[in-house]
Amino acid sequence: MINETAFLEKPVGDKRQLPEFELVNLTINGQSYKLRLQPWVSLLDAIREYAGLTGTKKGCDHGQCGACTVLINGKRINSCLTLAVMKDGESITTIEGLSDGITNHPLQDAFIEHDAFQCGYCTPGQICSAVGMLNEGRADSLEDVQELMSGNICRCGAYNNINAAIMEVKSKMA
Ligand code: FES
Ligand code: FES
Repeated sequence: MINETAFLEKPVGDKRQLPEFELVNLTINGQSYKLRLQPWVSLLDAIREYAGLTGTKKGCDHGQCGACTVLINGKRINSCLTLAVMKDGESITTIEGLSDGITNHPLQDAFIEHDAFQCGYCTPGQICSAVGMLNEGRADSLEDVQELMSGNICRCGAYNNINAAIMEVKSKMA
């Protein structure tokens, strides 16, 4: 039988044992940021609220929708599930960093050409995830793309056009 009193008294998550702030160095889209953050600030909040890059979206904040996907050294990650302090010194690319302001990333152009969005809220995460997924080199077919992109939810249901955009870019990489 569980001793509920003992369980409740256990000092789990006692923030008094953590430093109030940490200095976190992040390189985001090639630019250096020195952020003074509470240790429990997520990477997503650091990017949006402290670095001011709001292209990355917060959907669920629980790792279930993929809207917050960014790239760390080319690998995709749900930024809501990661503490910023854990990524001190890392190089991060967000949706803003995929274009140089003049030339889009091929996936950005393909999403436009295929009309691969409706409200657009999931789109930054979809595109960053697709970049990471294609970097992984594991997708050989449409079914593979669907499976490997299944962590990115589109509430508007634009999946057919999203997949068409990704498949077009993938075919040009072959
Ligand atoms: S906001 Fe991160 S997975 Fe939904
Ligand atoms: S375009 Fe609206 S959620 Fe995907």
